This record gives sequence, structure tokens and C-alpha cells, in this order.
Amino acid sequence: MAAQVKRRKKRVLVLHYSQTGQLTRAARSMMRPLGEGADIEVVWAEMTPARPYPFPWPFFAFLNVFPESVHMVPPPMRPLNIGADERFDLVILAYQVWFLSPALPVTGFLKSGGARILKGKPVITFIVCRNMWLTAQEKVKGLLSRCGARLIDNAALVDQGHPLATFVTTPRWLWTGRKNGFWGVFPPAGVREADINGAARFGRAIGAALRSGKPLKAPVLAGLGAVKVNPGYVASERIAHRSFYLWGKLLRAIGGPDSTARKAVLAVYAVFLVTMIITVVPASLVARALLRPILKKRLDDEVRRLEEPSGSGTERVSEFV
Ligand SMILES: Cc1cc2nc3c(=O)[nH]c(=O)nc-3n(C[C@H](O)[C@H](O)[C@H](O)COP(=O)(O)O)c2cc1C
Repeated sequence: MAAQVKRRKKRVLVLHYSQTGQLTRAARSMMRPLGEGADIEVVWAEMTPARPYPFPWPFFAFLNVFPESVHMVPPPMRPLNIGADERFDLVILAYQVWFLSPALPVTGFLKSGGARILKGKPVITFIVCRNMWLTAQEKVKGLLSRCGARLIDNAALVDQGHPLATFVTTPRWLWTGRKNGFWGVFPPAGVREADINGAARFGRAIGAALRSGKPLKAPVLAGLGAVKVNPGYVASERIAHRSFYLWGKLLRAIGGPDSTARKAVLAVYAVFLVTMIITVVPASLVARALLRPILKKRLDDEVRRLEEPSGSGTERVSEFV
């Protein structure tokens, strides 16, 4: 008589941090198709800082987190609501971006003892942010590799509307809590509902890969339009991150987040930042357009690298919608 082999349940851990709930909603939409089978268990764990960050953000509190965000100074964290020795077959790290870096609670978790749970595990990063995630993902790749995790996929959802519009709508949302569109020109802030619902295709592909019984090695989200790198952001992010890094170093040398001297220099920085946005952003758009023909090949290669491991191809989308 052939022995009945009972397959053990696959367990997926979803680590998430969201202030408004948007990112968690997107992650739930992605994971919903997995919950439909009794052979996969999805466990949710929130990366919770010991001291919550405000929402909506007072302007100075918002600006004041940039030195620590960029320098990835981990805040104290609450322990995860799971046991340190629990077994997981896959981890989803759902994170948002702060100042071109992982949000502080994400850095806090990845640099904490709790991150031991990632050792040897396949990890899928799932980013929900305004639209500038390239540098943050490079930093997360470094942190994951320090934890001994294996990044197999990355998917990113970004805010709706033209980047120049989200330059207004996202900060307005973060500073006032108002998400609505206005003046007939600006769309609502945040990610389009269709994109949140569409994240279910990632879950279906993840479910299929887990149920195949094969080890999770190759990207499972390839061909599903998981990411799309805007070539225009490659240089902009690099320049902006350099500036954040240097100013952040100066501000941290002056004092901690509560220091009065640091707040005074932060006010100077705010003026500098606005001046930079008004002058450097349009100048770099012109420079980019002029340099595009010369740098095309190099830029294409860099875009391809940044889109790894999942890529921007969409050839398998129809299989999983
Ligand atoms: C302090 C701060 C800095 C941010 N910096 C960036 C950024 O550099 N790039 C980006 O695309 N989004 C940035 N965002 C937007 C967030 O990634 C995210 O979309 C937003 O906070 C909403 O997340 P939630 O709805 O899950 O709370 C920033 C948000 C905050 C609060």
C-alpha cells in the first residue's frame, strides 16, 4: 500500500509597518489569495517602535526624523508578537520609505535581535511609498544580507498621479492627513485602489510557488509587473541621498532629535531644501534630457539592475489576474 505522505502546512510571515493603514491594506490584498487554501498559513507581525511616530506629522517632527532615517539609526522596538523559534517558509517584508531610506521602524526591526528570524529565509520585499524607493531598497538589501536572509523578489506600489503632482499631494497628506484630490488638478494622495486590489496577483503567484513544493529560489514575481524603475530617478535619488547624508551627519553631530541647537540648524536646512527643490530639480530635468543620448546604455543597465530580482516584465500578468 502506497504510504500517504502528508504535506506540512507552509507558513508565511508578513512583517509590516504602516501609519495610515494603506501599506497593511495593500499587503492584505496581496496575501488574500493565499488565505483561501488550508495548506498555507499567513502570520502577521507588526514592526512596532517603542515610541510611536505621529500622524499627521507636524512639519518639524517630519523633517527631524531625516538624519536618523538616512543614517539608519535604529529606534528602540517592541518585540514581535511571534516566538523567536517559529518556523516560516517565506517572509514578506512590507515596508515604506522615509527620506530615501527604509522607514525607521523597519530599520529598527532589521537591526534588532528579532531579525534573527530572517536567517536563511527567502524574503520578498513589498514597498508602498510615494515613488522614490530605489536607494531605500539598496539599503534594505544590505540589511537583509547582514541578517543572512535571501531576497528573492521585490514588488513596489507607488502613489497615483504625475510625480510633480505627488510632490504636492503626498506631503499634504502626511502633514495634514487630507487625502482627497483638489482643484481639479491634483489626484487623491496615496496608491490607486486598483493597484492595491491588483496586488492580489502577487499573492496568487506566491501561493502557486509554495504549493509547487519546490524550494523558493528564483523570483516568483517575474513577469508580473512587480516593479518599474523610472530612469529619471536614478541620478536624482543619488544626488538627494548624498545631500541628506551630509546634512544628516552635521545635524547628528550637533545634537539628538530633542536638541534646540539641532532644531535651529534644521530650520536653515528647511530653507536650503526648498531652495534646492525650486532650483536643482528643474535644472537636473534639463541636464538629464541633454545627457540622455550619451548615458543611455549605462542608464539602461542600471535600471535593469535596480529592477532585479523580479523585473518590470508583464508577460505573466494574465495568468494571475
Ligand atoms: C518621514 C517620511 C518620509 C518619507 N519619505 C519618502 C521618500 O523618500 N520616498 C517616497 O517614495 N515616499 C516617502 N514617504 C512616503 C511613505 O513612503 C508612505 O508612502 C507614506 O508615509 C504613507 O504610508 P502609510 O500609508 O503606509 O502609513 C515618506 C513618508 C514619511 C512619513
